[in-house]
Amino acid sequence: MSAPVEGAAFEHLRADAQEVIARYPQPRSALLPLLHLVQAEEGFVSERGVDFCAELLGLTAAEVQAVATFYTMYKRRPVGRHHVGVCTNTLCAVLGGDEILARLQSHLGVGNDETTEDGAITLEHIECNAACDYAPVVMVDWEFFDDQTPQSAVELVDRLRSGEEVVPTRGAPLRGFRATERLLAGFYDGRADEGPSAGHASLAGVSIHRQRQDDGREDGGAIGRSEPADAGPGLSTGYGRDGGPSAADPTATAASDPANRTPPAHADDPSTSRTRAEGGAP
Ligand code: FES
Repeated sequence: MSAPVEGAAFEHLRADAQEVIARYPQPRSALLPLLHLVQAEEGFVSERGVDFCAELLGLTAAEVQAVATFYTMYKRRPVGRHHVGVCTNTLCAVLGGDEILARLQSHLGVGNDETTEDGAITLEHIECNAACDYAPVVMVDWEFFDDQTPQSAVELVDRLRSGEEVVPTRGAPLRGFRATERLLAGFYDGRADEGPSAGHASLAGVSIHRQRQDDGREDGGAIGRSEPADAGPGLSTGYGRDGGPSAADPTATAASDPANRTPPAHADDPSTSRTRAEGGAP
C-alpha cells in the first residue's frame, strides 16, 4: 500500500473521496470516479494523484496507473480551462470533422492534445461521442456542440478564450473542464435540467416508431412505452423470450456447439456454483 499523500490540495479531497468510496461495496470499485476527482483538483492525473488513489483504495500505484493510462478521459498532462474535443470518427470525419480540427489547430497554434499559451484551451481529436446524428460534433468539457463547421468552431473557441458564457447545443452553460470532472466524480451540481437535452434528430426514430405502432403497422418492441419489466403471465414485456426481438435460447445455442459448451449455471454444476459463490461472473 502507498504511503499517505501529503499536501493541502489533497487534504480537503479526503472527505469527498471517502464519500465516493462509501458508495461501493468494495473500495477499489471507486477508482474511476476518484480519478475524475483528482482531475477536478489538478486538471490531470498527476503522480501525486495516482498515489492518493492508491493509498485510499489499497491498490498499488501500478494498478492505478494501468487504469489511468487505459482510458483516454484521464489526462496525463494538465488540461486548460476548457477541453475542446473534435470528433474525427467516421461520420464526423466525412462531414467535415477533419477540416474543423485542422482549422482549430491552425487558429489556436496548437497540435493534438496541446494547450494554448494562455491556458484557455486544450485541443484534442476524439473518437465517436454517440452523437453521429449531429455530425460533425465538437465537445467542450464533454458537452455537445452539434452540426459544427470550421467557422462556427473558430467562433466557439474565441468565445471560450474571452471568458464569455457559452451554452452548448444540449446541456447547461459551461463551467470549465474541472467542474465537469467533479460532476463525473459523482458530485452533482443540480443543473441536469438546465438547457435542452435530447435533440430532434435523436428523437425522430422514436416518434416514427410510435406513429407506426399507433397506425398498427408495427408491433412488439417497447421503445418509449412504459410496460413494467414484470408484465405478468401471458403478457409480453417486449424483450427476450417473452416475444421480443431476440428469440435465441442460450441453452439451445450452447448445446448446438459441443466444442464450446457454455451451459447455464446450475446449483449442481461445480464450476458455475463455485463461480457464483465466489462472487465472480456467472
Ligand atoms: S462519428 Fe462523431 S459523434 Fe459519432
